[in-house]
Amino acid sequence: MTRDPFRRQRRRVLQLALGAMLAPALPLRVWAQPRFDRNPFTLGVASGSPLPDSVVLWTRLAPDPLDGGGMPPAAVELAWEVARDEGFRDIVRRGTVLARSELAHSVRVEAGGLEPARWYWYRFTAGNAASPAGRTRTAPAPGARVDRLRFSIASCQQYEQGWYAAHRHMAAEDLDLVVFLGDYIYESSWGRDHVRKHEAAEPYTLEQYRNRYACYKSDPDLQRSHAAAPWLVTWDDHEVDNDYADDRSEDLDPDFLARRAAAYQAYYEHMPLRPGAAPQGPAMRLYDRCEWGALTTFFVLDDRQYRSHQACPRPGRGGSNVAVDCAERLDSDRTLLGAGQERWLHEGLAASGARWNVIAQQTLMAQLERGTGEQRAFWTDGWDGYPAARARLLDFIAGRRIANPVVVSGDVHCTWIADLKRDFDDPRSPVVASEFCGTSISAQGPAVKRVAEWRARNPHLHYGNGWKRGYLALELDERRCVARLRALDSEKQQDSGIATLGTWAVESGRPGPRKA
Ligand SMILES: [Fe+2]
Repeated sequence: MTRDPFRRQRRRVLQLALGAMLAPALPLRVWAQPRFDRNPFTLGVASGSPLPDSVVLWTRLAPDPLDGGGMPPAAVELAWEVARDEGFRDIVRRGTVLARSELAHSVRVEAGGLEPARWYWYRFTAGNAASPAGRTRTAPAPGARVDRLRFSIASCQQYEQGWYAAHRHMAAEDLDLVVFLGDYIYESSWGRDHVRKHEAAEPYTLEQYRNRYACYKSDPDLQRSHAAAPWLVTWDDHEVDNDYADDRSEDLDPDFLARRAAAYQAYYEHMPLRPGAAPQGPAMRLYDRCEWGALTTFFVLDDRQYRSHQACPRPGRGGSNVAVDCAERLDSDRTLLGAGQERWLHEGLAASGARWNVIAQQTLMAQLERGTGEQRAFWTDGWDGYPAARARLLDFIAGRRIANPVVVSGDVHCTWIADLKRDFDDPRSPVVASEFCGTSISAQGPAVKRVAEWRARNPHLHYGNGWKRGYLALELDERRCVARLRALDSEKQQDSGIATLGTWAVESGRPGPRKA
């Protein structure tokens, strides 16, 4: 008989959910005409999930951000407005929304009735307090011709290991969109040469995760980046716990699903997601599609919530391993996305009429064989731990001749420019898609020597850089996808400058990035 280590935990989560459903609805207390003696908009504003006629606007009231927010339990009414100009003379939409304590006094507004492909400015007021203004834009109309799209990919912003100068530079780039690929927060303190410290120890409860988001979102450069353009977001592991897979944590915590529910709730409260993403206990539908006229469709994936457990973990533990002989890794039924999301992705790709199909997801998709000599080794937390799932996706892309597939990735704190192939071990295997894996905003990456060794063993990796922090700026038009590798002088300097390390391009109809 197989023992189910999570049965007790599942029962507890179910009890919690049932308890919440059966609890009598309390009358909502509203703090009318609030007067704040401290700024409640300490976490800035944000926008995201753009559609042709609407965009999500976000803020949170938190006069004491690092210690629970500092708000009374009552709800507070906020007013919001959207204008066509930065000076708010031409206001096109306005309304009110309640900030409720159940959502840590965060609010999301689906501002609708907007025109496609247009810049807007937005702001909030609550009582005597006014938020900073943010800039956002709507997506182009369905099927509309779009001359160009500029977006960045960013990930992995360990707060202690560096300043967010990369965000300040991103905000100055005039991007249409920021695509954030996970590790927005880090649950643990680690790494060398800290420039600052987390507000507290590792979070487990909802209140602790809220404080961690508040700590990260207090950073003025991150706030600038959110206020400059709408974001598309997904998470990776550190929004919950290192290397978790579905219901299993690295240290096999029997209460892990309750922790995951707290972490997902805090994530939802702090991201400009549509209300449809609201979590139900430990489950949250995050994967989504964003169409940018006829030019691009983004498929934003969630590779954490539904994945098979890592193959061949270290004895007595879950999580990753650099595995040498691991037959389990090769099982054909292993999945990184889960059956439902995989079907959704295949159907969406098959139905897409876009010139470029951008698959925005967490971790390096290209094989990275990292053994020594004759011995081959693979890191089991990434796609290399799920080669059958990777082959299913790349075979589908090749077999259905999906137009211009470009995979963008994060997680590994290393820029990689890669060919995606049906068989990475066969030099003659055709290139079926292109991959741009971003570096990290601040989290430390692999050293020069390691990256050189890995490149020598993996000829489909055209370029690697693990020692420079920053982001990738991509520009798409009908002919080309061009990626500029933006690298900070040093993430240890708050006012660091930035430079372009190199430029790589994919021509439409010809998969595989080439140096431009
Ligand atoms: Fe990371």
